[in-house]
Amino acid sequence: MIFLELRKLRQRVERLEKRVERQAEGRPPLVEERVKTFVAGFDDALGDGIPRGHVVMIHGPVGTMKTSLALYIASKNEEEGMTPLYISLEESKESLQETMASLGIKGKDFIVDIATMRLEHGLVEEIDDWFPILKSYLQNKVTEGIDLLVIDSLNSLYPAIRPNSPRGELFRFFSFLRDSRITSFLVYEGMEFHYREEHMVDGLIEIAPRELEGGQMPLWMRCVKLRLSDHSRDYHRLEFRRGRFMTLPVNR
Ligand SMILES: Nc1ncnc2c1ncn2[C@@H]1O[C@H](COP(=O)(O)OP(=O)(O)OP(=O)(O)O)[C@@H](O)[C@H]1O
Ligand SMILES: [Mg+2]
Repeated sequence: MIFLELRKLRQRVERLEKRVERQAEGRPPLVEERVKTFVAGFDDALGDGIPRGHVVMIHGPVGTMKTSLALYIASKNEEEGMTPLYISLEESKESLQETMASLGIKGKDFIVDIATMRLEHGLVEEIDDWFPILKSYLQNKVTEGIDLLVIDSLNSLYPAIRPNSPRGELFRFFSFLRDSRITSFLVYEGMEFHYREEHMVDGLIEIAPRELEGGQMPLWMRCVKLRLSDHSRDYHRLEFRRGRFMTLPVNR
């Protein structure tokens, strides 16, 4: 156990050293550095994972395990030495912790919900302008060392979007996330996009239930787009078994 912890710590220090070295030399950050989803079979389909610093949207209709998948990605990357932050704008931290426990997903204390944010940020009133609050909250967290972010869900922020330039506001928020060099997973509820978000993000992963003969309704997942990556566009069958997400060919 202690060896595993030490190995992860060493990997983290090595990554940080590399980052500092590149920065000191004025070289651009590594594009070839990729963040894995740890969904067996799917990282290969993505071209070995997601380029670090990308903004990736995971979208699908209700009950398609978006939250479970995002928790899994955060947890697995934490095991590998990354520092995730999971901002839950709908479900409470306790509810998500229950989901993790029931699925057998481990994790340190990486979830914050609105109640926690209010407390940490001294927010007492109803929030009607989320983006500046989130930005300053995240800026602090980036300084503290987070390098993987989940926002669940992006749609929850929409009532607070200024109506005169919603697309511009989202564009600036995505740019801010990219500039922070954190790899972001934005959970998006639904199959319809409001502001052509799919064009603004670096990656788009779709999960959808598919009806088969006999009434079976398995989940299918595919990478619709992923910048800087030679990825597959094919659907894969998404399964969760014994604490692990995996993808299988759709004809099985
Ligand atoms: N161990 C399990 N194996 C497979 N599926 C499970 C398991 N546990 C829960 N589920 C399924 O996951 C679904 C909920 O997952 P989750 O909350 O991650 O989905 P979601 O897409 O985030 O939903 P929402 O749209 O409500 O946010 C449940 O409806 C259930 O069908
Ligand atoms: Mg959810």
